[in-house]
Amino acid sequence: MSYNLLKGKRGIIFGALDEKSIAWKVAQRAHEEGAHFTLTNTALALRMGTINKLSEECNAKIIAADVTVLEDLENLFKESQEVLGGKLDFVLHSVGMSPNVRKKRPYTDLNYEFYQKTLDISAMSLHKVLQTAMKQDALNESASVIALTYMAAQRTFPDYSDMAEAKAMLESIVRSFGYHYGVAKKVRVYSISQSPTATTAGSGVGGFDAFFDYADKMSPLGNASADECADYCICLFSDLTKKVTMQNLFHDGGFSSTGISAGIMDSFGK
Ligand SMILES: NC(=O)c1ccc[n+]([C@@H]2O[C@H](COP(=O)([O-])OP(=O)(O)OC[C@H]3O[C@@H](n4cnc5c(N)ncnc54)[C@H](O)[C@@H]3O)[C@@H](O)[C@H]2O)c1
Repeated sequence: MSYNLLKGKRGIIFGALDEKSIAWKVAQRAHEEGAHFTLTNTALALRMGTINKLSEECNAKIIAADVTVLEDLENLFKESQEVLGGKLDFVLHSVGMSPNVRKKRPYTDLNYEFYQKTLDISAMSLHKVLQTAMKQDALNESASVIALTYMAAQRTFPDYSDMAEAKAMLESIVRSFGYHYGVAKKVRVYSISQSPTATTAGSGVGGFDAFFDYADKMSPLGNASADECADYCICLFSDLTKKVTMQNLFHDGGFSSTGISAGIMDSFGK
């Protein structure tokens, strides 16, 4: 159902790779709500993924950019404003990758070049996105910027490896840049801490299925799906949350506030 919440709004959506991607669902919902936006991903992901289908469905131009490369981001913001016909109202940073996780390096035997890549792609890139936007004055007053994160930033999940540090840093950038962009232009910056979700990035974490089932059993409302995450993003991109900023917002069915659930007790009581 559409509420026209983003009618006339312009934005950039990072990170749609395939139909399972959280960014894919956000793009579909943003389109339904009347937004115009560009889609972006790395040149490699554009070749490997199925983003052309989404681009046609949403009438959205695809602009290649590696989120770690400043020149790519400068071009992305410039071209997006030209294509969309003005400054932007929202940005979705739905990007994450750890070469250590991908190559199954144990946390106690990390490759430090990979580690730097993890931090650059998954955390520092948010700073690069915001700094580029600010330098170009590319965002309208009260624009809304969302990054996606996971609770491993606060608590240890052994298989999440160096992505845990990346998410802690990402959430800190949300607060720090959120302060500066708020003072300068009332721009809102938040992270959404999402339940485990069966996507390419999510399923890459070791033991994902057990992890997913455990979180589902622990959460009073059950795990939040990618579609539900998209609904939450639309709400935060809209004008209905103009005084929310610098927050890490849990979208996890109650998992982060639950000590133990009856479902988990039952599975140990047998
Ligand atoms: N899936 C989960 O369980 C889960 C839970 C909480 C948070 N998140 C976060 O949600 C976000 C989106 O992940 P997803 O689950 O939709 O998986 P996904 O694999 O569909 O999306 C990750 C995206 O990051 C892009 N990317 C990687 N390196 C990049 C680079 N250098 N430049 C630009 N883009 C790059 C990939 O191409 C891909 O499109 C990530 O930040 C992830 O950590 C996921």
